[in-house]
Amino acid sequence: MEEKLRRLTSFLNNGPKPFLIWFTGLSGSGKSTLAELTNKFLLENGGKVYLLDGDKVRSGLNKDLGFSLADRAENLRRTAEVAKLMLDAGLIVIAAFISPFQKERDMVRQLVGSDNYLEVYLECPLSVCEKRDVKGLYKKVRSGEISSFTGIDSPYEIPVNPDLVLKTAEEDMTRSLEKIISAFTHKFL
Ligand code: ADX
Repeated sequence: MEEKLRRLTSFLNNGPKPFLIWFTGLSGSGKSTLAELTNKFLLENGGKVYLLDGDKVRSGLNKDLGFSLADRAENLRRTAEVAKLMLDAGLIVIAAFISPFQKERDMVRQLVGSDNYLEVYLECPLSVCEKRDVKGLYKKVRSGEISSFTGIDSPYEIPVNPDLVLKTAEEDMTRSLEKIISAFTHKFL
């Protein structure tokens, strides 16, 4: 691990090849938390990183969009274009979006290029996400206050070709972060 870390630090500090780490999974599966941990790790080791998070992007750039299938597709199209601009500027980009459909995930992969893209699927049972209910949204869906919610009355298509699958209900975040670091070290270094 020490040798790996040394190689990684040197890579990050010497103008690395830009790449995109894309987190996908249900609301509550741990995307934002793991994306933030990955962001922190890369920053601390000298990387120039930007984190795009669904909730934040939706409160600004994409605040005109809702959760219909068309709006989700547009949300991800714009995000992918922004990520591409950031990659062109030499940044490492981390993105955390439910991104429930294979078609849009394929679009992102194609836009930035498969060689620059690492897809991380956070596999977590709906029952666990619902129990966590960090934002209280599952409760609102069950009481009928909101609808078209991913996993309940809007589908989530399991990724067919992710680079990494993490079972976030079973393993702790530190272990998941180690796997992410190994995966991108292996793919991009
Ligand atoms: S995506 O489907 O378009 O990729 P995105 O990741 O940007 O979704 O946004 C998901 C976040 O929006 C969730 O984490 C949740 O906080 C919030 N949200 C509000 N309404 C919904 C809904 N109907 N379905 C899913 N997420 C919702």
